[in-house]
Amino acid sequence: MMKSGFITTTLMKVFAACLMALPVLVMVSLIYPNPPSDRMEGFAAARISKGRAQNVTPVGVGLKDDSSPPSVNMPKDKLLGGLLHAGFDEGSCLSRYQSFLYRKNSPHRPSSYLLSRLRSYEDLHKRCGPHTKSYNKTVERLKSGHNNGPTECSYVVWLSFSGLGNRILTMASAFLYALLTNRVLLVDPGNDMANLFCEPFPETSWILPLDFTFKNQFNSFDQNSPHCYGNMLKNNIINTSTESLPSFLYLHLVHDYNEHDKQFFCDQDQTLLGKVPWLIIKTDNYFVPSLFLIPSFEKELGNLFPNKEFVFHHLGRYLFHPSNQVWGLITRYYQAYLAKADERIGIQIRNFDSGTGPFQYVMDQILACTLKEKLLPEVKKQESIVTPSKKQISKAVIMTSLISGYFENLRNMYWEHPTVTGEVIGVYQPSHEEYQQTEKQLHNRKAWTEMYLLSLTDVLVTSSWSTFGYVAQGLGGLKPWILYKPENRTAPDPPCHRAMSMEPCFHAPPFYDCKAKTGIDTGAVVRHVRHCEDMSWGLKLIDGHDEL
Ligand SMILES: *[C@@H]1O[C@H](CO)[C@@H](O)[C@H](O)[C@H]1NC(C)=O
Ligand SMILES: *[C@@H]1O[C@H](CO)[C@@H](O)[C@H](O)[C@H]1NC(C)=O
Ligand SMILES: *[C@@H]1O[C@H](CO)[C@@H](O)[C@H](O)[C@H]1NC(C)=O
Repeated sequence: MMKSGFITTTLMKVFAACLMALPVLVMVSLIYPNPPSDRMEGFAAARISKGRAQNVTPVGVGLKDDSSPPSVNMPKDKLLGGLLHAGFDEGSCLSRYQSFLYRKNSPHRPSSYLLSRLRSYEDLHKRCGPHTKSYNKTVERLKSGHNNGPTECSYVVWLSFSGLGNRILTMASAFLYALLTNRVLLVDPGNDMANLFCEPFPETSWILPLDFTFKNQFNSFDQNSPHCYGNMLKNNIINTSTESLPSFLYLHLVHDYNEHDKQFFCDQDQTLLGKVPWLIIKTDNYFVPSLFLIPSFEKELGNLFPNKEFVFHHLGRYLFHPSNQVWGLITRYYQAYLAKADERIGIQIRNFDSGTGPFQYVMDQILACTLKEKLLPEVKKQESIVTPSKKQISKAVIMTSLISGYFENLRNMYWEHPTVTGEVIGVYQPSHEEYQQTEKQLHNRKAWTEMYLLSLTDVLVTSSWSTFGYVAQGLGGLKPWILYKPENRTAPDPPCHRAMSMEPCFHAPPFYDCKAKTGIDTGAVVRHVRHCEDMSWGLKLIDGHDEL
């Protein structure tokens, strides 16, 4: 099932797979638990200094093409094809206007419609952001509990939940939902997100203020909360014909959600939700693919993303800019180990089997994939020196894994033996956190650094089911080679497969036809929403024009 890449499973099989997956998904989210500790101090400031944006001092490192100095294409590429607003203060967030120096020019330009919607979103956020007059008014509505008529501004509040890779994917999902519904996205940073990201929107903040009314209750929000939308549906407290709606609803979109919670993805429910000024969302999933199955969003999404494969690629590069602290970690590492290589290869290893490893079958799989797909050269065990016929090529491999065993193995192989091609292979791994995460903030900073470094490679190999890999491939605009999930502790054959698209996989999509009120295979409804390569019941976006 895993190996076939494409799935024509019957509905029953999909449901069965879903049941099997739950314990694993629970485990996945346990890997980055959410410790209760001190409150967040605030993201890097989004100060504005108008007119200074064009004067960035280029850091001339890591450029793909040495013959074209950074200044030549700077004015155009610095703003990533218009994705970025030009008016931010450079110094408070160096990564925002420097990322183009490290990343290959994305050949995928955002649509002019997306750009215009982002600019109008920025205006909306400025008008409705924390502690503005409109915000204060809408908060009053929340405190009073009454919902009498439309408000000037309405909001999506994103709750911090699950591992950092998941959070990046869910913030992007919540942002797209906000964009589609003319809401303002505010994020509750939780306990351990301090100093990871810069503010994405100019002259305002996306951080939910500390004095927000329900902030203390966020931890207790779950499927059974009285304000949980699914729970209210279940108990007949609310329905699509209800007239007096509450001023806020909690939307439980976590992988364990039930059929009632899943009605979020129905058109008629969206009509109801549209009348509620505050929606508070908790999710650990990239739910974007299912937004593409809601008929009332179809046209707008088509205009925003003529090519559906680039949703996270564009939104991710728009939203997520490493803070200066993290940017230091990224750029120092890049300059030391990756900048000088002719080619960069990222290998992201995540093993979901029990035990710590390293496992021989995982190592076998890494080698089988990279050698078979000619991402890395074979070695000549019999010879001590191989001289290349042409100019010597150097490749830098950056590996990420919780443990160091795979990295050591690969590094030693290329140290102890020459490559058949005479290429020089350097193998590096920034960190190996094992299972100890005593200093959570540093752990997250390193995780974010590693995702970002992987996104700066030319060729990417990722592990199945890993949100860490999804973030890297999306930001980098890379279609990775996906290592199939090992079954029964043996290296699968074939070991890996090229992804259909760079989009992340939605691991827990609904399988429901809202109109017919019956189960359906949502991976077979439209051309551009398909089952994932690495998870047969998951959904992902692909370019609708691709041959299937
Ligand atoms: C909104 O309320 C806060 C206090 O909660 C206050 O400090 C701020 O000045 C208010 N904003 C406006 C524009 O009145
Ligand atoms: C809708 O909910 C109201 C209570 O808000 C209830 O009186 C009514 O019977 C419900 N309608 C349906 C069709 O369930
Ligand atoms: C898993 O491996 C064991 C021992 O190698 C074998 O006995 C068993 O049949 C395998 N199970 C499956 C489902 O392949």
